[in-house]
Amino acid sequence: MVSFSSLAILGLNLAARVSSTILQNGQVRKTNFPDTRINPADYSFTTYPANATEISYKGRWDSKHVSWWSAPGIKFGYTGKTVAITFGNLTDNGVLVGYRIGGLDWMFTNITAGATHLLVSPETPGSNETGPINPWTFEMRVSNWAYGVQIDSVHVAAGEKLVKIPDFGRRIEVIGDSLAAGMYTTYEGLSSWAYGLGAGLGNTEFTVTAYPGICAADQDCWGNPRGQVHQWFYTSDTSYRASVIHGDDPEPWDFAKHPAADIVVINIGTNDRNEANNVSTEAYIDALTKIIEGIHGKWPKAQVIVMSLWLGFYQSGNTYLPNAPDGWVKEIYDMVRWFNSDDYLRNPIIYDGVTKKTSRTGKRAKPFVHYFNTTGIMQHNDIGPLWHPTDVGAVKVASHLQQFIRIKFGWDFYATGPEIFHETLYWNDEPNY
Ligand SMILES: *[C@@H]1O[C@H](CO)[C@@H](O)[C@H](O)[C@H]1NC(C)=O
Ligand SMILES: *[C@@H]1O[C@H](CO)[C@@H](O)[C@H](O)[C@H]1NC(C)=O
Ligand SMILES: *[C@@H]1O[C@H](CO)[C@@H](O)[C@H](O)[C@H]1NC(C)=O
Ligand SMILES: *[C@@H]1O[C@H](CO)[C@@H](O)[C@H](O)[C@H]1NC(C)=O
Ligand SMILES: *[C@@H]1O[C@H](CO)[C@@H](O)[C@H](O)[C@H]1NC(C)=O
Ligand SMILES: *[C@@H]1O[C@H](CO)[C@@H](O)[C@H](O)[C@H]1NC(C)=O
Repeated sequence: MVSFSSLAILGLNLAARVSSTILQNGQVRKTNFPDTRINPADYSFTTYPANATEISYKGRWDSKHVSWWSAPGIKFGYTGKTVAITFGNLTDNGVLVGYRIGGLDWMFTNITAGATHLLVSPETPGSNETGPINPWTFEMRVSNWAYGVQIDSVHVAAGEKLVKIPDFGRRIEVIGDSLAAGMYTTYEGLSSWAYGLGAGLGNTEFTVTAYPGICAADQDCWGNPRGQVHQWFYTSDTSYRASVIHGDDPEPWDFAKHPAADIVVINIGTNDRNEANNVSTEAYIDALTKIIEGIHGKWPKAQVIVMSLWLGFYQSGNTYLPNAPDGWVKEIYDMVRWFNSDDYLRNPIIYDGVTKKTSRTGKRAKPFVHYFNTTGIMQHNDIGPLWHPTDVGAVKVASHLQQFIRIKFGWDFYATGPEIFHETLYWNDEPNY
């Protein structure tokens, strides 16, 4: 009996109001998210258009300033004590976003398409502080992969200004499916291990090109029309929303215009492995190989970490065991070994997912593909009833990956205090039971 990662796909109309209940341990989480909508006519603002150079876009955004994939965001510095954002009509009505000042805790609010939201005012915690982060930085991230926002304009108090914050000097990308996108964690993308890895390392730019249900192989999986071997090369994801906004003509991701990732983490194959999608071992390994050849073609200096798959657990007698069948453990490991062989490295093959062309670099490469063994990181109760990591499971995966990257590549941990995961403060305040 095989039962793992059955992913429902959310078919949503852009016009529909998006909203669902957040559950923790099966109980409803109290969410008194403030309504931040205002009438901009009541305020006196200095306004910047969405293409202002002061606004940094994190993750993948298209030419209309619409966000895609998991946990995309914006960041900028500002003067004064006011930040408001006008959202375009291509925003999913009701979409939940996290936002914060500096390294303070995330706050959440639901966004209305076409509306202006006041996200920072003198009453916002942190507004009256005097440092140490100067100028004040504002960051906002979309929590759900299937929904997005469109930035129309950003406002500060009249006479105040936006300040460009330079990008951090290192960059990570996570390529994956629902497991990386944060499906079934409490704040979805903002509770995912992929976000936790990027944000948790600190001083690191990160992009999470992950989407629930997607396969590595280029075929329909759970309603996703294309696989990552194709879609990773594009700006938008495989959502219904993308088909509405971009139709049959998605924008290829402009690799030349965006800095290369230093490290790429890949966790994909759980959907390929699911019998419902009928992906052969050969088709899966071929797609995963091409994804890595694609990364090497676009970012020749990037180090690639391939994660072994996990398929959940089942009770076996008086304990729990990993689900059978295995997640192509041997095949993935053999592929990683091939990438490290002289056969590959003396003249690496590269791949372009838009032209579908395979070619040779003609230059010897140093080994750049690494294997991350996930076995033993999570236990049966780190996977929720819907086959995805719980918040705790996500924290474990993120933490182990961070340590792996520190040991392997010498990356320091720079986040030494700011909140990463929101509402994970489970503790006990009674000393005697
Ligand atoms: C905001 O979004 C969250 C998550 O979808 C939802 O639980 C909440 O009901 C929404 N609130 C409003 C006012 O729409
Ligand atoms: C922003 O877009 C406007 C209108 O298309 C254009 O005139 C302006 O030059 C752009 N600004 C930047 C910084 O690209
Ligand atoms: C949204 O669409 C309405 C009607 O088409 C238009 O009047 C409004 O300016 C648009 N707002 C934004 C922020 O794009
Ligand atoms: C900041 O100071 C102003 C003026 O004293 C006050 O109205 C506001 O509540 C303060 N904000 C916070 C978050 O304490
Ligand atoms: C699964 O794939 C095999 C090989 O490509 C094909 O022969 C078979 O018809 C497929 N089955 C389904 C249910 O699509
Ligand atoms: C992965 O870890 C498990 C548990 O430690 C171990 O049994 C297995 O051999 C490891 N796989 C590889 C390829 O190192």
